[in-house]
Amino acid sequence: MRIEAISIFPEYFSPLSLSLIGKAQENGVLSFQAVDLREFTHDPHRTVDDTPYGGGAGMVMKPEPWGEAIDARLSQMDGVIDLIILTPAGRVFDQRYAEELSKSENIIFACGRYEGIDARVEQYYRDVESVRVHEISIGNYVLNGGEVAALAIIESIVRLIPGVIGNPESLSEESHNEIGEVEYPVYTKPAQWRGINVPEILTSGNHGAIARWRQEEAKRRSQR
Ligand code: ADE
Repeated sequence: MRIEAISIFPEYFSPLSLSLIGKAQENGVLSFQAVDLREFTHDPHRTVDDTPYGGGAGMVMKPEPWGEAIDARLSQMDGVIDLIILTPAGRVFDQRYAEELSKSENIIFACGRYEGIDARVEQYYRDVESVRVHEISIGNYVLNGGEVAALAIIESIVRLIPGVIGNPESLSEESHNEIGEVEYPVYTKPAQWRGINVPEILTSGNHGAIARWRQEEAKRRSQR
């Protein structure tokens, strides 16, 4: 999978060299590149924003640097490209959406700041044949920009690529799996901590009973 993120703060993405996502890059499962939007400006101040037409508070990101940056990245990619525009007005991201995107070959994240990106950028790329445009929100709250949202989405999709997580069984059992349930509670040693015991059934050695108990706990937690 090839992922690129266009932002005025490319340094935001340095944590992607850590942990399993870092390893996925070393193994060649994932290629990631952060792209500085200001590289696609042509004035001495490297301007990326301007006042909104119609008035109002805040600044809007200009379409020209975005168009140039996205075109430059698209020209380096083959096949279908998922262009993800991060916005609190987008479709709310969830595990199903993560599964869908984990099958993508090429993803470009457009991380806007200020009051957002000029709406014509989204409109323009909707009509480009090889591009699937997504407007995604990671929840009903407002961030200062799309970078943190992109990081969350990247982590959730890359871990679904076969081979990234050592034990694929952990994917089917975890929260928000196919049946939409959250995971059962988990415990490790010691058997007693601060006066609280691990549920006895888990130390019984009865695997059938343990599996049933976990199923019931998952159901109970999901309902709650
Ligand atoms: N940009 C600002 N807030 C956001 C959110 N909740 N999701 C995605 N992008 C955003």
